[in-house]
Amino acid sequence: MPDPASSLPFPTAVAWVQSVLSPRLQPGHVVVDATAGNGHDTLFLTRQVLPGGHVYACDLQESAIVSTRARLLSHEVSEQDFTLIQSSHHELEQHLPAALRGHIQSFMFNLGYLPGGEKALITCTESTLQALAFAFEWLAESGVLSIVAYPGHEGGHQEAAAVEAWSSGLSPNDCEVQKMAFLNYRPTTPFGIVIRKRRWEPKNRD
Ligand SMILES: C[S@@+](CC[C@H](N)C(=O)[O-])C[C@H]1O[C@@H](n2cnc3c(N)ncnc32)[C@H](O)[C@@H]1O
Repeated sequence: MPDPASSLPFPTAVAWVQSVLSPRLQPGHVVVDATAGNGHDTLFLTRQVLPGGHVYACDLQESAIVSTRARLLSHEVSEQDFTLIQSSHHELEQHLPAALRGHIQSFMFNLGYLPGGEKALITCTESTLQALAFAFEWLAESGVLSIVAYPGHEGGHQEAAAVEAWSSGLSPNDCEVQKMAFLNYRPTTPFGIVIRKRRWEPKNRD
């Protein structure tokens, strides 16, 4: 009888970012899914922060908003515990309460296109970088920003490289950054990045 534990494959990029977020989230936290898609990550977030918390989920496409709402309701998530925003994530500031600035415990970005949806509506380098900068600014101290990047589709390689360069350029004084990638798979395999904002420490002036 083979030992099932020994045949466990390594996590996918999506599973890996969720495994990093999960122990760092708790009921009462406010979090944002910046690419709601079919709502899998949004549902994951509701399971971490409810009761007491709130999940904001954003997507450009109406079909993604419809699909995310259906998924949450079918899992008995109450309408009052989430807010769906049909917008580009680089304009999220217009849709989030200003009081949440610096208090959002997590932002999830799962880039690319909606599986089964409109492939022309993919995330784009420029708006993704703007949205990431906004997310990092609005993240709580010790909050985590996660990204899954897809170098495989058209434009995806450029976007993934830009996201990696942006993340690598963040100061270690401000945050810690990790990447998870399969080194012996095709270079188009999705990879994950997690960024944990450091707690602000007042400088000792003595
Ligand atoms: C890979 S899917 C997300 C998967 C999703 N997290 C899930 O769990 O099902 C990427 C999503 O990003 C959305 N998207 C593309 N550009 C966007 C933008 N500028 N702002 C917000 N969402 C965007 C697409 O419509 C698509 O639904």
